[in-house]
Order: sequence, then C-alpha cells, then structure tokens
Amino acid sequence: MGLRELIGKLEGREALDGVSDRIAGFVNSTVKPAKSLLSGTWLEHPLHPLLTDLPIGCWSGAVILDLFGGSGAVDAVDPLVGLGALAAVPAAVSGLSDWADSYGPERRVGLVHAAANLTGLGLFAASLMAGHRSARRLRLLGLAAVSAGGYLGGHLSFGRGVGVDHQAFLEKPSDWVDALDADRLEEATPTLAEAGGARVMLYRRGTQIYALSDVCPHAAGPLHEGSVDDQLCVTCPWHGSRFRLSDGRAVHGPASAPAAVYQARVEHGKVQVRAV
Ligand code: FES
Repeated sequence: MGLRELIGKLEGREALDGVSDRIAGFVNSTVKPAKSLLSGTWLEHPLHPLLTDLPIGCWSGAVILDLFGGSGAVDAVDPLVGLGALAAVPAAVSGLSDWADSYGPERRVGLVHAAANLTGLGLFAASLMAGHRSARRLRLLGLAAVSAGGYLGGHLSFGRGVGVDHQAFLEKPSDWVDALDADRLEEATPTLAEAGGARVMLYRRGTQIYALSDVCPHAAGPLHEGSVDDQLCVTCPWHGSRFRLSDGRAVHGPASAPAAVYQARVEHGKVQVRAV
C-alpha cells in the first residue's frame, strides 16, 4: 500500500472523530483569548510552520552529531535536545490551536500528526535521562516519529490546503465590472454578489460601499453570512476571524492573511467593483 493510500484511509477513519472532537472542543475553549497570537494574525503569516523549524533543526542536529560527530561532539548533543524540547512547546500549542479549527479528514490526519510529534518530543526528552547507548536509540526513534509527523503536516498544507491563503488562486476582475443592481444593496446588510466570476461581499453605509472578497482567506468561509460591527469589521461565521472592511486586514484570528479588497462605485444603477 502506497503512502497516499495509507493517508486516504486515515482521512476516512471516522472512529477518530469522537476523541478528536472532545480534544478540539477543549483546546478551542482554552486558547480562544489567544487565538490571534497563536495563529499568527499579528504577524500576517501562519505562526505554526515558523515555530516548527527550531525543534526540528535542533533534534536533527543532535542525531547528526550522534552519527558523525565523534567523541568531540558528545557535549553538544544534550543542549541541542533540550533546546529542541523547549522550542517544541510553543510550536505544539500553536499547532493545536490551528488543528482545533479543522474538520473531518483534516482533523483526523492532524490528530495523528500531533500524536507523532508528541511521541517524538517524549522520546527526545527521555533521551536526556537515559544512558549513552539508549539515549542514541531514543533520539533516532524520536527523529523518525517527528519525520512522520512532518510528513503528515506537509500533507495537510500541500495536499489539503490547511493554513494556505484561500484567496491565493482566486480570479479578481482588474477592470470595473457589474456586481449588483444598486437598489438591491440594502443599508448595513452584508450582501453576496458575483463580479466577473468572483464572489464579492458588498456592504453599504450611507453612500459608502465596501467590497471584499466573499471567500474568507482562512478556510473559505462565506463572509456575507457574517456580521458587521460598529468598527466596520466583518466577522467570519465559521471560526470568528474579523476583517476590516476598509482594507481587508485581519484584526482577529485565526486568519493571518487579509481579505482581498475591491474598489466599489455606482454607475448606471449598478454597483461596480474592481480589484485594488
Ligand atoms: S473560514 Fe475560518 S475564520 Fe473564516
């Protein structure tokens, strides 16, 4: 059986949902106040992939020193393992926060991704207390576990689109195109329109019309089904990301990428938009 087939089976393993849902509910209620911090909204970039570099680098370095460093490198191994273990904690917390916002196949694969990485962390931590020969074996096993976890994490990003900007491949009209009859755009009501093949959320306050891509960059939620508050930010109905209508910036996570903004005007009784 190939790796893809194996992951396909894992994605369909509904038996994992009971435990996943319970853990995700607990994680979401625990990290909710720190969602923007943990997801990277403040950085305008997903945080978890950045934080994984240090533990993976430290632990890979420790194993390479085990294999090729000779006796002169022995003293450097434990500090590398310890630093990797410390750095793994924020990486794990930000990853758990991201994972708790996933569903179905992504959540099942993410559960095993997390389990593999936590197993790796446990093995590397145990190596700090083990004798020389056992410690080397534990580190090798730890690196194998972390590599398996990394493979699954890569599949989540590149195969399932978790963590990518869901607006990245959208076509956006660069010239003015009709989006909606102007008299159908009600005051203070998020409204879905189609403009040159793009889904656009329109919102009117008096004579000012705001237009954002309707596709939430976090996981493609429909922004027109969200609510707009007094600060003129729309809240996505799926996971609660907030975007400023004026410039699309994400002001609350889990989204880290901005929502695409359009210019809007009324011409000949039509609301027209074009990409900024
Ligand atoms: S789809 Fe997740 S916050 Fe919008």
